[in-house]
Amino acid sequence: MSNNAPIGMFDSGIGGLTIAKALMQRLPQESLCYLGDTAHMPYGDKSPERLKEYAVGITKRLMDLGCKAVVVACNSASSNALDEVRAVAGPEVPVIDVVSPVVDWAVSHNPCGEFALIGTRATVQSGLYDRLFSAKGGKVTSLATPLLASAIEEGFHNGTISKAVVEAYFADGWAAEKDAMLLACTHYPLVKDEICAQLPSQVVVVDTPAIVSERAAKVLSERGARASAKTQSDRFEVTDWTQAFADGAAHILGTSVDLFEVPWSEIQ
Ligand code: DGL
Repeated sequence: MSNNAPIGMFDSGIGGLTIAKALMQRLPQESLCYLGDTAHMPYGDKSPERLKEYAVGITKRLMDLGCKAVVVACNSASSNALDEVRAVAGPEVPVIDVVSPVVDWAVSHNPCGEFALIGTRATVQSGLYDRLFSAKGGKVTSLATPLLASAIEEGFHNGTISKAVVEAYFADGWAAEKDAMLLACTHYPLVKDEICAQLPSQVVVVDTPAIVSERAAKVLSERGARASAKTQSDRFEVTDWTQAFADGAAHILGTSVDLFEVPWSEIQ
């Protein structure tokens, strides 16, 4: 496969674009092929079986598009469907998830740390973060914050609604004594300011997009698969065209994007 083939990425909606933006900054010579599964958004309230089904279909689509790597830019899918993505991608195509790089980073930067995490129900209920942290001797306290991703997808960030929702989730001060906060949903960096406002300044909010893009750079370098120059423009697909996605993409990426609708019936 050519090194100039695109990196495939997916999420339920705009959240994975926070990772895409960091990848564009870290690896500007790479081309991206992003799929937002808006027809099935939110992923956070879906069963593991559904998430596996969606992840398999999308990975097949990314393979059909000739992607050289897959970034599972979604915690819910990374926590519930990573083996399935790897099985479809095959041994030649590296798969980068958004969970293990962050756990590795957190434990290596603060081995005795007490970590807090917010994520979707699907992510928290999978127990993957707990398992990875405890395997490395780390401790994490998790809270499912199911209202947040859908609100953010609808454009409610940096405003009174997102502020009120975040305040409600942190009202009892459960995270105030922790060393670091992990935003275990790729939508959440869009409400990072609101989250920081609820935490004492000693609680570090971990920068997931930067950590994941660094891991992607490392994996591609180890395989000798880095692109030498950007030879094609980035492609953005959704399974259901929504104005919210178009607006969210423009907000995150700082420019409007051509958005192609690929209905789920064509992906399965
Ligand atoms: N952004 C995704 C995640 O990281 C999915 C959020 C959702 O669709 O519920 O989990």
